[in-house]
Amino acid sequence: MILYDDKGLEIFDKITYDKDYYLTNAEIEVLQNNSDELVEKYVKDGDVLVELGAGAMRKTKYILDAITKAGRKITYYAVDLAEASLRQSLEPLAATYPSIKFVGLWGTYHDSLSWIQKNQHNARKLFLWLGSSIGNLTRKEGADFLLNVRNTAMRDGDLFLCGIDKRNSFETVSLAYNDRSGLTRDFAMNGLVNINNIFKYTVFDPSNFMYVSIYNEADGRHEAYYESTKDQTVEFKEEKVSVHLKKGELINFEYSYKYSSDEVDKLVESSHLKIIAKWSSNKELYDCHL
Ligand SMILES: C[S@@+](CC[C@H](N)C(=O)[O-])C[C@H]1O[C@@H](n2cnc3c(N)ncnc32)[C@H](O)[C@@H]1O
Repeated sequence: MILYDDKGLEIFDKITYDKDYYLTNAEIEVLQNNSDELVEKYVKDGDVLVELGAGAMRKTKYILDAITKAGRKITYYAVDLAEASLRQSLEPLAATYPSIKFVGLWGTYHDSLSWIQKNQHNARKLFLWLGSSIGNLTRKEGADFLLNVRNTAMRDGDLFLCGIDKRNSFETVSLAYNDRSGLTRDFAMNGLVNINNIFKYTVFDPSNFMYVSIYNEADGRHEAYYESTKDQTVEFKEEKVSVHLKKGELINFEYSYKYSSDEVDKLVESSHLKIIAKWSSNKELYDCHL
């Protein structure tokens, strides 16, 4: 929630066009090659698509194209945190696909799940969770999250399509989160600016921190940190809390977990779901599981 304000989403969107961030192109390949099959086999008239953390919806278009091509009538719900970006992404889609009904759900995943739970109607739902967003949760949190979606917002026959990044080579993952254009660094540093905007005074002076990216290959997770570049005291005035940071001290702000096939099996088993299809990118860097 700190990282994805409107500015954060704008920078993240640029990241998705960067070659070093291979995840987006790999997921695009999967959707480009397999959306027709997905729609043909699994999407029926009257279904509801719910995309969690929809972002710029660039990849969703491949599914929407396939839906239009197959002549299916569906409703698409897009869930995201930043209202302006949500509107900006949805409006052109509504103009491009007149046969699809578009609805924005502005809020957190949690908000949207309780909304769906309360507004359940008979339509069958296909959830989409793309961009390997599951990787931002620990493996246990990821399994708990899916179990919670299953128990609160899904009924028998509903489907969940999840894009999951694989345990790729050290070099590939390291470059994705520390790209040569410095976009990931800008994205990270914007988080500090957003914290200051929320508090309405400077809690973290961005010039006193730098972005540190580490791929922890043993645990299969990328770790993102702010490193304090000097001895400093960070103050939360209203809370009357101050924290002393030593030069070189790290603050962890994001994980991006990568999954082997065994880890995906475990995840799905713990969330009491069942895999019915799997599609991979051309170079097998990335999978979408249904
Ligand atoms: C890794 S990006 C993926 C964006 C897009 N789905 C893609 O694949 O390019 C994560 C998205 O989830 C949204 N997001 C993150 N945490 C969220 C939360 N707790 N509730 C709702 N949306 C969230 C962000 O705003 C962002 O658009």
